[in-house]
Amino acid sequence: MSSTDTASLHTDPSLFAGVDVYAVAGHPIAHSKSPAIHQRFAEQAKQRMHYGRLQPEIDSFAQATKSFFAAGGKGMNVTVPFKLDAQNLADVLTPRAQLAGAVNTLWKTEGKIFGDNTDGAGLVRDLLAQGIALHSARILLIGAGGAARGVIGPLLEQSPKSLIIANRSSAKADELVKLFADLAGSREVALESRTLAELEDAAKTQYPFDLVINATAAGLTDESPLTLKAVANIFVPSSFAYDMVYGKTTAFMQQALQRGARVSDGLGMLVEQAADAFLLWRGAQLATAIDPRAVLAELRS
Ligand code: ATR
Repeated sequence: MSSTDTASLHTDPSLFAGVDVYAVAGHPIAHSKSPAIHQRFAEQAKQRMHYGRLQPEIDSFAQATKSFFAAGGKGMNVTVPFKLDAQNLADVLTPRAQLAGAVNTLWKTEGKIFGDNTDGAGLVRDLLAQGIALHSARILLIGAGGAARGVIGPLLEQSPKSLIIANRSSAKADELVKLFADLAGSREVALESRTLAELEDAAKTQYPFDLVINATAAGLTDESPLTLKAVANIFVPSSFAYDMVYGKTTAFMQQALQRGARVSDGLGMLVEQAADAFLLWRGAQLATAIDPRAVLAELRS
C-alpha cells in the first residue's frame, strides 16, 4: 500500500455515507491541527461532517484531489507544499485567490472545483482580535514567497500607512511590489521593497515599525531572518511581532521580546483561516454559531 493510500484511508468519502466529508491535504500532514479545529466548529454549529487528512505524494496532488472529489468529497483545505498546485487545479478562482497566487480552500459545486484563499483574511482577523490597529500602521512584512504573497492584499485593504516587503534576495520582493502597486495606490499605502541587509541601515528603514510579520520559512529551523543590527532598527516597545509559524516562541519572536515588543505566533491565523473555509463550505449564516477565539483558547490550553 502506498503512503497515499494509507494517508487517505480515513478520508475516503465513500466510507462515510450520509456524512459530508472534508480533508486537509499537505505533505507532511500528520501533525496538522486542522481536523481538530474543524471538528470543534462542526460541534459548535451542529454540522454533521467528517474532516480527515490526506498526504498525497509530492507529484500526486492533482490526482489525489480529483479522486477525493470524484468519490463525493465536499471540500478541502490545502497546505504546504500544495497551495500552488491547488491554484492550478481549480476550475474557478476567487479574485483574492488569483491575487494571492495560491489556494488554501477548495470545494466542488455543480461539477466545478472552486479555489479561494482565506489565509490573508485569517491573519487580518487574528491581528484585529489581538487589538492591533492596522489602519495607518507602519508594517514590515519579511519574506516574499507564497506565504507573504497570500497576505499582502488583505493587509493593504486595511489601509496601513506603509507596507515594506523585505526579503533576502531583492528580485522577489520587487516583483511583489509591482504586482500590488495598483491596490496600494488605491488605498494610498506606501508600498516598498527592501533586502534583509538593508534593514541593518537605519536610513533605509526610516522608522521602527508598528507591526512586523515574519512570513519566511526561517522560523521552522529555529533561525531568524533578522540580524541583531536590523532588530535594533526595527523594534520599539510599542511594536508587535507576528510569526506565521505556530506552536513555539521562534528566534524572531525572542528577538522582539528582547526589545520589549509584544509577540504572537500564527496559531490564531490558522484558526481564523479555517473559520473562513468552514463558512465558505457550510454557509455564511453559521458565522454567529462558531466561535474561533474559543477554539483558539482551547488549542492553547
Ligand atoms: P512559503 O510558501 O512558505 O512562503 P517559499 O515560497 O519557498 O515558501 O518562500 C520562502 C520565503 O522564506 C522566501 O521569502 C525566502 O527568502 P528567499 O526568497 O531569499 O529565498 C525566505 N527564507 C527561507 N529561509 C530563510 C532564512 N533562513 N532567512 C531568511 N529568509 C528565509
